[in-house]
Amino acid sequence: MAQKTLLKGRVLSFNGSPFKGDPTDAAELHEGVLIEDGHIAALGTAHDLSKAYPDAEVKEYGTHLIMAGFVDPHVHYPQTAIIASWGKRLIDWLNSYTFPEEMKFGDPAYAAEIANRYLNLTAAHGTTTMCSFCTIHPESVEAFFAAAQSRGQRVVAGKTCMDRNAPEGLRDTAQTGYDQSRALLEKWHGVDRVSYAITPRFSPTSTPEQLEAMGALWAEHPDCLMQTHLSEQTDEIEWVRSLFPEARDYLDTYEQFGLLGSKGLYGHAIHLEDRERDRLREMDAALIHCPTSNTFIGSGLFDMNGLIQAGHKVGLATDTGGGSSFSMLRTMAAAYEIGQLRGRPLHPSQLLWLGTVGSARTLRMEDRVGNVTVGMEADLVVLNLASTPAIAQREAGADDVWEAVFPTIMMGDDRAVADVWIAGRLRE
Ligand code: GUN
Ligand code: ZN
Repeated sequence: MAQKTLLKGRVLSFNGSPFKGDPTDAAELHEGVLIEDGHIAALGTAHDLSKAYPDAEVKEYGTHLIMAGFVDPHVHYPQTAIIASWGKRLIDWLNSYTFPEEMKFGDPAYAAEIANRYLNLTAAHGTTTMCSFCTIHPESVEAFFAAAQSRGQRVVAGKTCMDRNAPEGLRDTAQTGYDQSRALLEKWHGVDRVSYAITPRFSPTSTPEQLEAMGALWAEHPDCLMQTHLSEQTDEIEWVRSLFPEARDYLDTYEQFGLLGSKGLYGHAIHLEDRERDRLREMDAALIHCPTSNTFIGSGLFDMNGLIQAGHKVGLATDTGGGSSFSMLRTMAAAYEIGQLRGRPLHPSQLLWLGTVGSARTLRMEDRVGNVTVGMEADLVVLNLASTPAIAQREAGADDVWEAVFPTIMMGDDRAVADVWIAGRLRE
């Protein structure tokens, strides 16, 4: 008989969107969650679960919050070692810090070292699923998938294609970008918990021929996600305009090559024109908000409220290492602060939902990860809501769970992560 594990604590589960009606109505609290065969088998009161599953191994978490592991839908794992690099804006930052570092990923040993370092750091911060850009080197994708596979993690990633405006040694071609992406996709997509995302970096680093080849590959594999960047900085948008004088706007540089779709993930999407917003919504494409990156690189303030109210699908991501943290808690805090600057504070329920269910929706994985409901894969984070003296003294005066969790969202880090469960197994 399969091993059963009963986790007791404050279990947070979402039953709807906290952006519709009262944000607290979308959440439920249970006293326990039963894990069996790597999946969530039951939720309920501690008494009922103990009675129904007397042979389960019990893990007692007291007042800790047990919730879905965080889902981070836009990261660059190869930028782990250059996180928090000083003083540049997007294009200079890419040229000064990012491209020299990404050059190293043709070496499989280095790629494996950073992939493992990245997965250790993110697990310590409670993130169990992510969607990562790799580098132009197939070795970088192999290393990431192999590391994730050995840990049993659900991940998405793809070879970052670039055939112009990048240094020698960090460019492929339209043809090799297509061929190598296809070979990796055919090898890895759907293997264990691994999925492949077709990954043109952004319009400035791909020729029209490469964008067309990426569009063709996506049309041949429509079940794959496609990830890229869109309208992050105003200088970048000007550059796109000069490179694609025929295009109606930035989004059109993707749209005209078959790179706009409901399984498309568009990172940043800050400075959108009306036509772009309309098309993105019509296509149900996913917009990925990367708040620590947007303040760190000085990109701008994402219109979370306007886009969600208009019906856009939005996820929340670190954008490591343009983002300044591996922590989805820190990322929620930054989203809160940007909301404040735009006059709309996000409720803790909305922040936690964005970092789990909302982000899983953008990856089309909301039926597998990102929530604690029966049948879901058992990827969980256990949060200590009093992890530091500063947080504990604020949490002690809380009147409800939302007031109890908000100090951890605003001030918490990896010290708040008591335990992480991946596919029903405790991460040691
Ligand atoms: N646009 C194109 N590439 C990148 C990247 O690596 N990081 C960020 N933040 N924006 C990009
Ligand atoms: Zn990015």
